[in-house]
Amino acid sequence: MAYRLTMVGTGYLGATTSACMAELGFEVLGVDVDAEKIARLQAGDLPIYEPGLEEILRRNLANGRLRFTTSYEEAAAFGDVHFLCLGTPQKPGEYGADVSYLDAAIESLAPFLERECLVIGKSTVPVGTAQRLSEKLTRLAPIGSGAELAWNPEFLREGFAVKDTLYPDRIVLGVASERAEKIMREVYSSMLERQTPLVITDYPTAELVKVAANAFLATKISFVNAMAEVCEAAHADVKQLSLALSFDDRIGGKFLNPGLGFGGGCLPKDIRAFMARAGELGADQALTFLREVDAINMRRRARMVDLARELTGGSFHGCTVTVLGAAFKPNSDDIRDSPALDVAVTISQQGGRVTVYDPAAQENARRAHPQLSYGESALEAAKDAHVVLLLTEWQEFIDLDPEALGSVVARRKIVDGRNALDAEIWREAGWHYRALGRP
Ligand code: UDX
Repeated sequence: MAYRLTMVGTGYLGATTSACMAELGFEVLGVDVDAEKIARLQAGDLPIYEPGLEEILRRNLANGRLRFTTSYEEAAAFGDVHFLCLGTPQKPGEYGADVSYLDAAIESLAPFLERECLVIGKSTVPVGTAQRLSEKLTRLAPIGSGAELAWNPEFLREGFAVKDTLYPDRIVLGVASERAEKIMREVYSSMLERQTPLVITDYPTAELVKVAANAFLATKISFVNAMAEVCEAAHADVKQLSLALSFDDRIGGKFLNPGLGFGGGCLPKDIRAFMARAGELGADQALTFLREVDAINMRRRARMVDLARELTGGSFHGCTVTVLGAAFKPNSDDIRDSPALDVAVTISQQGGRVTVYDPAAQENARRAHPQLSYGESALEAAKDAHVVLLLTEWQEFIDLDPEALGSVVARRKIVDGRNALDAEIWREAGWHYRALGRP
């Protein structure tokens, strides 16, 4: 049977999953309470920057497999399988995650569920949430236990969301019945036929896999950044250290790039929510190391500001500082907890004239931080700069010509916050080149 799918929540995850599941041949209906977002998606206008996604969205709108609505009633009537793709942001002023969007979605959808269906949670949640939502779902649905919950964490990376959705490196299914497993195996049959690794487990394990994966990745980044701190003290070179570590295939080189550290809508808030939840469960000692992971990460931002101030002679007053990059990472327009913008704002608060340029996140940055200046290109942003900071490693910044950039700045000084440039080339072109964790 070809199931009809709904995606409840059409943000990053929901929009991507909607378009990609339609691309796989399913009929898909996306649902969101945000009428403006729904209107844009229905018109083929993707509200986020994600390489390759708009094309897939438009193709599947045109072939009729994909539609969007604000009506939960319509979604309930349409879908055999409902995916929950809602955000779980950090609660203001505390570490825990706010899961109220998930609760609201179940409360809106469940009262219309009059025939058998499977509801699949994809959001990143504190362990224990799925069990609670499962009880709520059967309590509120007219079909009762005929509406069943499963948990299926996603691991998609921004910038690679299409590939990660169509070709996931593993599928994790937290299920409470054989029926749920059977439906999920059918939904993912094309991936399972390719021998994509599959882990079938219970709700709490499925919930934990996701936060454990993000905690591990964050730890790996903070590990190498802790080594960068030691390298700075010992006049050693963390880029070469990281390279040497990477050849040990037990360690590997991925997520071992020293620099300004992690940001974005997932890693920072997920490790904090994980600590908060472990505390509630009485297992807080197990995760105290994540507090260090977070602290190391935040210290990189402070170190970046210090290094930039050193290059402007001990004060930012009267100095123009160019910040290349506003997105939390390249190939994204996402500025949530962006290390680059954090540094830009701090320098501006300390009296510097900050001009930012980002190839995709410019408008988001301008809206969030109108007090900063913005240039329309790297060269325009760098005009008369006393120091240039490379804070998000977009390819176009890596490709910058040191001579061309040198001809517009006031002083040839650059801090490579992502260890992305070839130091030799820049020094040969007369630049004072500095990087985090390197002599
Ligand atoms: C992450 C997870 O990778 C993904 O599996 C999960 O589903 C959501 O969270 P994403 O937020 O898109 O995805 O970003 P990711 O590519 O993981 O990068 C996270 C941050 O770490 C970025 O700010 C990046 O710049 C930084 N990073 C990454 C480093 O500082 N060093 C590295 O070596 C790698």
